[in-house]
Amino acid sequence: MRSKVTVVGAGNVGATTAQRIFDKGYADVVLVDIVEGLPQGKALDMLEAGPVTGTDAKVIGTNGYDETENSDVVVVTSGIARRPGMSRDDLLLTNMKIVTSVVKEVAARSPNCVLLPVTNPLDAMAQKAYEVSGFPKNRVVGMAGILDTARFRTFLAQELNVSVNSVEAYVLGGHGDTMVPVVGTTTVGGTPVSKLIGKERLAEIVQRTRDGGAEIVNYLKTGSAYYAPSASIVRMVESILLDRKEILPCTALLEGEYGINNLFVGVPVKLGAGGVEEVFEIDLNDEELAALRKSAESVQELIDVMAAAV
Ligand code: NAI
Ligand code: 2OP
Repeated sequence: MRSKVTVVGAGNVGATTAQRIFDKGYADVVLVDIVEGLPQGKALDMLEAGPVTGTDAKVIGTNGYDETENSDVVVVTSGIARRPGMSRDDLLLTNMKIVTSVVKEVAARSPNCVLLPVTNPLDAMAQKAYEVSGFPKNRVVGMAGILDTARFRTFLAQELNVSVNSVEAYVLGGHGDTMVPVVGTTTVGGTPVSKLIGKERLAEIVQRTRDGGAEIVNYLKTGSAYYAPSASIVRMVESILLDRKEILPCTALLEGEYGINNLFVGVPVKLGAGGVEEVFEIDLNDEELAALRKSAESVQELIDVMAAAV
């Protein structure tokens, strides 16, 4: 029997994610949105690509939740996206309400699923999804670090004219201005990146990574990135459904790791059938550790704003 993945939100990120998963063929997909006709139309369009791409999986669209029952993974992309001049944090209270209502619906029908929040501000939404679902911490894991790391790797590969596959890197911390591209552990073909790129240029690449989301928003004007985000989501979905146990930068609940407590923050985790099977504590220098903790403080500020609002 094929696995079942629900994607809530049939906008740019959700629909592209559904299409990527459907195209792979190893899972049936349920696409949910509040806009009447939108998930149905997009899902039918995807389904009709099946005979061309050779995919036998099913994909359906719906405005309700009954069809989502017993999903293995539920990806939450519903909510508003930012526009030029907005930060991810500007989305907080609107998306908090949307994520709360969506998570109640999906958790009731798929009590054993792995919840994969994507909606921004990501770390705060993951914390909210954890709280509302009542799921154990291993079954709530947010997507951002793979995207931020992919941007960092792209820029480094461009700079050095090497394959992106030869660049090993992590971007950790909250998915916001304080994210931490970890230069100290970044290698290119096994060589520390600091030996290949000068300090000032490296600092520019780090900053471009931090601004990576805004760079796309400023081009698109009416929305934010979705090709790299959906590819990043699918990497997580695959590691879970296929029990790959990949070590990937994801947003997970920390309980003392890196000196951070009771907070969802981006760190390397082992992602398998059980969701987050282990949090990896990699060696960070003092500066990077301080930056990670500072980033966690920014996430905590958003959690405090949410707490004050309810
Ligand atoms: P979009 O505007 O294209 O799609 C959002 C969809 O959510 C819309 O179709 C809307 O009708 C739907 N929606 C709103 N309220 C809903 C509800 N209560 N139930 C079901 N559906 C609902 O936005 P896009 O580009 O798909 O982005 C979605 C979210 O993902 C945004 O918050 C964005 O900031 C975030 N994002 C996060 C990334 C990350 O790295 N964590 C990367 C890219 C986007
Ligand atoms: C990004 O980084 C919008 O958070 C999203 O592109």
